[in-house]
Amino acid sequence: MLVCEHVEQLRLELDAHRRAGRTIAFVPTMGNLHEGHLQLVRLAKSNADVVVASIFVNPLQFGLNEDWEKYPRTFDADCAQLDGEGCDYLLYPNERDVYPNGMSLQTRVIVPAMTDILCGASRPGHFEGVTTIVAKLFNMVQPDKAIFGIKDFQQLAVIRKMTEDLCLPIEIIAAPIARADDGLALSSRNGYLTSIERPIAAEVYRSLQLAKHALECGRRDFHQIEHESQQHLVAHGMRIDYLSIRRVDDLEPATASDRNVVILVAVFLGNTRLIDNLQVAI
Ligand code: PAJ
Repeated sequence: MLVCEHVEQLRLELDAHRRAGRTIAFVPTMGNLHEGHLQLVRLAKSNADVVVASIFVNPLQFGLNEDWEKYPRTFDADCAQLDGEGCDYLLYPNERDVYPNGMSLQTRVIVPAMTDILCGASRPGHFEGVTTIVAKLFNMVQPDKAIFGIKDFQQLAVIRKMTEDLCLPIEIIAAPIARADDGLALSSRNGYLTSIERPIAAEVYRSLQLAKHALECGRRDFHQIEHESQQHLVAHGMRIDYLSIRRVDDLEPATASDRNVVILVAVFLGNTRLIDNLQVAI
């Protein structure tokens, strides 16, 4: 795997592949890679001839009191894992090159739909930071396909919308959620959990399964179902940001006539924010 700190170098490399008619798949990440990220790389490999990953802990998508500074940076281990999966290129840009005029003067990409609800409501500006960096990375790499995890369901929906609205010729491919044996969705932030909190964190997935089971039994009292799952989380000492049953298409609250819904959850366990989701066909 070739590590490119400068986009010019990556562009020269990728131009040669494009001239040879090869397709390029892109996996953007913030590093501290785990099995979930590696699944994305595998999906990229099976969908294109050349795989490019990126690692950039994007300050623009972190709030002032969030964890940008303490976000785990494990570059050497990440490189070894990507190499082991047969990733061809890693774009590893520095902040100066990504934001040459500083973040406050950076041109922004704003998706108006779906960005001020759920995670967008509790993390103002977060999705603007995500869409801005993903648009920039798309322009740097110019891939044919890009892979994103369903773990970040709202992020995936917002990026699909951005790609469509900006007429970007990039196919967005969704990858399933990789989970630990007890059901906890893998996340770089799981590393913040203490040894006491870690087993409790599996109750997040359990709360989604409870709601899914209720829906599959034919119940349509969405608010009551949400309430029961929320109570489950509270009983395990978690603070609820949201737990909500939404329709898949636009993330609006589900109604009795909807067929494809997704249960989305965000909680704090101690100081750690955890998100997860589960889709249900009803
Ligand atoms: P990061 O949290 O590093 O995630 C990179 C990609 O891995 C995202 O598409 C995310 O959905 C996916 N992912 C994370 N955990 C996963 C899991 N357990 N199963 C499947 N996929 C998983 O998401 C970001 O970085 C950033 O916002 C980024 C898109 C790179 C923009 O900065």
